[in-house]
Amino acid sequence: MNQTPKRYTITAALPYANGPVHLGHLAGVYIPADIYTRYLRLQGRDVVFICGSDEHGVPITIKAKKEGVSPQTVVDRYHEIIKKSFSDFGISFDNYSRTSASIHHETAANFFKDLYDKGQFVEETTEQLFDAEAQQFLADRFVMGTCPKCGNTESYGDQCEQCGTSHNATDLINPKSTLSGSTPVRKQTKHWFLPLDQHQDWLKQWIIDDHKSDWKPNVYGQCKSWIDDGLRPRAVTRDLDWGIPVPVDNAQGKVLYVWFDAPIGYISATKEWAQKTGANWAPYWQDKDTKLVHFIGKDNIVFHCIIFPSMLKAHGDYILPDNVPANEFLNLEGDKISTSRNWAVWLHEYLLDFPEQQDVLRYALTANAPETKDNDFTWADFQARNNNELVAIFGNFINRVSVLTHKYYNGEVPEPKAFLEEDELVLNELKAYPRVISDSIERYRFREAQSELINVARAGNKYLADAEPWKLIKTDPERTATVMYVALQIAGALAVLSEPFLPFTSAKLKESLGLNSLDKSLNWERIATADDYIAPGHIIAQSPLLFRKIEDEEIELQRNKLAQTKIDNQPMEEAHTPQKDLINFDDFTKMDLRVGTILSAEKMPKANKLLVLKVDVGIDQRTIVSGIAEHFTPEEIIGKQVCVLLNLAPRAIRGTESQGMILMAEDADGTLRFVAPQQKIMSGASIR
Ligand code: MF3
Ligand code: ZN
Repeated sequence: MNQTPKRYTITAALPYANGPVHLGHLAGVYIPADIYTRYLRLQGRDVVFICGSDEHGVPITIKAKKEGVSPQTVVDRYHEIIKKSFSDFGISFDNYSRTSASIHHETAANFFKDLYDKGQFVEETTEQLFDAEAQQFLADRFVMGTCPKCGNTESYGDQCEQCGTSHNATDLINPKSTLSGSTPVRKQTKHWFLPLDQHQDWLKQWIIDDHKSDWKPNVYGQCKSWIDDGLRPRAVTRDLDWGIPVPVDNAQGKVLYVWFDAPIGYISATKEWAQKTGANWAPYWQDKDTKLVHFIGKDNIVFHCIIFPSMLKAHGDYILPDNVPANEFLNLEGDKISTSRNWAVWLHEYLLDFPEQQDVLRYALTANAPETKDNDFTWADFQARNNNELVAIFGNFINRVSVLTHKYYNGEVPEPKAFLEEDELVLNELKAYPRVISDSIERYRFREAQSELINVARAGNKYLADAEPWKLIKTDPERTATVMYVALQIAGALAVLSEPFLPFTSAKLKESLGLNSLDKSLNWERIATADDYIAPGHIIAQSPLLFRKIEDEEIELQRNKLAQTKIDNQPMEEAHTPQKDLINFDDFTKMDLRVGTILSAEKMPKANKLLVLKVDVGIDQRTIVSGIAEHFTPEEIIGKQVCVLLNLAPRAIRGTESQGMILMAEDADGTLRFVAPQQKIMSGASIR
């Protein structure tokens, strides 16, 4: 889309209402979508920002079964929790709906009926996996087995989470029912298929030819590989009792496939929004001057780039997405985020430990967003982003400006005198920023955009540090007034430019700078074209504390929580092996155990795991090869006392003879520790 679109429809993937949302959700989908939308609104564009809970699908029914409640009870609970988390973090949806809403049932059913009447489905009776014990067809997540593409042995029936491939349950090798654990049988059932093969040609042209340069490489690449593989018909109905009943005759016990109904949820949620506000929903989905953008995570790419567009095209009345800026995944401290393993930072829990610090998390997640590759969230990075960037750069600048303005001028913006070259320079630099940040945002590069925002504060700090108004005030009050005037303009610009990224901070800052009472309202356009938006005589309030330092102890607490999760996740048998067979005292005394002192340690050349140690064991000094190089550096173990099994028959390891063994203890997470005397003792002391 080349000219400015008439209006925008921005969607964020509907989260499944089978658990709360965590920071991976925020980083991958909702923060980028929110930055983009807030930015568009600030430009005065006509935009609707849509989301809601995805309340159908098998995982929800599994969860309900486990808890012995109805699926509706499950989704009611999580819908509220999720909705609150989004609102707490300032995700500014125009409407957050849900797919169990009647308007959605109606919209999705009509959509299906429409395609059905137009002959857009193929009806087919096929063999599906059936659990004879549970007397149920096994759709999607009710079956697990080996992925035919990558060999992952824990692939779901509809999708492999390891390689991202989506397939039919009958494609799985060695399928097992997750209901009963039994091997399913094949049984005939009738379903409706969307013949993606018939859409192949236009999809190829639309994606491969038309969007080669403006879709992200990760998105384009996945689509291309799908299309190159050749598209196959996809079943859009399921044998299940939770979902939207298939609205045609002879379809008892069948519902719409969750991935058929959920994206239509974007349309239903827009209709619901229009009902509430009196707007007309149709142009947001049907006028070709509307720019439709779907924000999603990478596991949703095929559904938003191939299947949903095929549905929209088959219907005929709808526009197609202009872009689908999917993100990769965010890991947490080196491990894949997982709801079932509780390896996550839940948003509602974050707010208990860091109340009112939504912007800090928003900032850290954007700074580290998985835009082009999977990324890792660490608490250390979170702390560093806050302390070194938000506190030391942004907060520090605002604080200096506010304190000095109050100290010198009782909070009144001073009258500037003649501008010097350095003033002109920084003011011109400032004018360029709205453009620079816009360019990045419009290309969905939110990390880059946010780092440019911090550069504004950096420029402000540098300007003050160079001009040193705190010294100047004694010698040159006129020059000081000019410097402070310029610094105040920068502060005003920061308040406005930070809004998409740090909405809570921006609001506080606008309030304290009194920006809402300016004669001309301060927006991006004005920052780009003027440099006198906060006039002399304007009064500012004391700046509230925008950011506070995050202490090591707070980070330690979060790390400990995660460490505990790791321990909780260890199956008992793995952490503690059962006791071995009994031995007698003689067996024990056969072992010659003595204390040794490590005299030297070196890496074994070309072996990652091995250290070659020289150990003083009293009777001699001997060489021991030990597989601990991944756990200890040579430097940190020299001089340490350890327990040594002396009379283990010598073995050559990579050509070096090892004359004994060092005793180690292993923690649940694999950490190795030396077994060692509590106090220093002579080398060679025997252990009994
Ligand atoms: N619930 C899906 C997920 O969390 C996303 C659905 S997006 C929609 O992966 F388009 F279907 F709504
Ligand atoms: Zn796979």
